[in-house]
Amino acid sequence: MWQKTRFTEAVGIQHPIVQGPFGGGFSSTDLVAAVSNAGGLGSFGAHNLRRDEILRVTEEIRQKTDKPFAINLWVSVVDEGGEGLDEAGYRQAVEFFQPYYDELGMQAPGMPHDHVEHYEEQVEALIEAGPDVFSFVFGIPSADVLSRCRAAGIKTLGAATTVAEAKALEAAGVDIVLATGFEAGGHRPSFLKSAETSLVGTLPLVPQVRDAVSVPVVAAGGIADARGVAAALTLGADAVQLGTAFLACAESNTTDQHRDLIFGSAADDTVLSRAYTGRLARFLPNRFVANVEGAKAFLPFPVQAWFTTPLKKTALAQGKPELASFYAGQGAPLLEHRRAADVMAALVGGIDQIFTRTTTN
Ligand SMILES: Cc1cc2nc3c(=O)[nH]c(=O)nc-3n(C[C@H](O)[C@H](O)[C@H](O)COP(=O)(O)O)c2cc1C
Repeated sequence: MWQKTRFTEAVGIQHPIVQGPFGGGFSSTDLVAAVSNAGGLGSFGAHNLRRDEILRVTEEIRQKTDKPFAINLWVSVVDEGGEGLDEAGYRQAVEFFQPYYDELGMQAPGMPHDHVEHYEEQVEALIEAGPDVFSFVFGIPSADVLSRCRAAGIKTLGAATTVAEAKALEAAGVDIVLATGFEAGGHRPSFLKSAETSLVGTLPLVPQVRDAVSVPVVAAGGIADARGVAAALTLGADAVQLGTAFLACAESNTTDQHRDLIFGSAADDTVLSRAYTGRLARFLPNRFVANVEGAKAFLPFPVQAWFTTPLKKTALAQGKPELASFYAGQGAPLLEHRRAADVMAALVGGIDQIFTRTTTN
């Protein structure tokens, strides 16, 4: 039976299907609960949340489901030079972004301040909140955090973009490794080498990670229908994580415009760029990304986001997709369903069919 894997056993869920977490306000407790109630593992991206918000979100999820769920954080919250800017650096950045602020009729933001998230405080809140799973990206939590999670019965699930990262996660004592290929929507969470030099596709990454570590492996990146899930399980994954497929659902916290773009021909193309946050991420191409790429106007994370976040919000409010960011993975054109329960039912039914065919042929 494909449903029973080391992952489903470890986490205590029915189907080896994880709804990928979304940072940046795209997660919703409704989506997490819908996926967990359908027998998968819902995840909430909490990397932009304060301590009290993490506690409140966890409480809200528990009111909507009594099934296991994950809360997700970013372990590394600032890149070298991303703490702030001097006056000259600030003036140079504003000069670059000013034409876009002018186009949108908005003021440039002031000097970056309070723009770095507080991971240490967030992880304390997470341990206090006690979700079933702590999933994380961009690094490895300290030995102390991992052992406190173990003591509290919180399973740890860490993202790897290369075999070396998978081995480092296992060596640190992380319970489950996410092998995420470059097809995935959102950020590339590489932490040993630059994201640009860690671009491995899901197809080669999953079996290599499976061979390299003995802990359960979750596959992510470009998986969008039952065929993708069946392929990942066949490659040795113990579960799959889908992001874009669930982001496109009505229950996620994105906009209808974003959902429609994901389901339309715009999602035939996606690009990897540092244009919006200063860290490499996959989204739909547009004029803003092309210009920032052309000028190589990248500031370290999260300073780049300081200048682009208000610009994105205003562009979205004014209906200007040429400047707003729309995250999506390469599997978007395969998507058909707009509700999480329908995604789950189509995956489970489809995988059943594929594996029945395989075993009866
Ligand atoms: C809008 C968006 C935000 C994301 N934010 C996070 C995040 O905060 N933490 C994380 O671990 N993964 C994040 N991801 C990655 C997803 O959880 C998931 O691993 C990825 O989308 C899987 O690839 P797919 O989109 O091809 O299905 C994000 C993805 C998207 C599309």
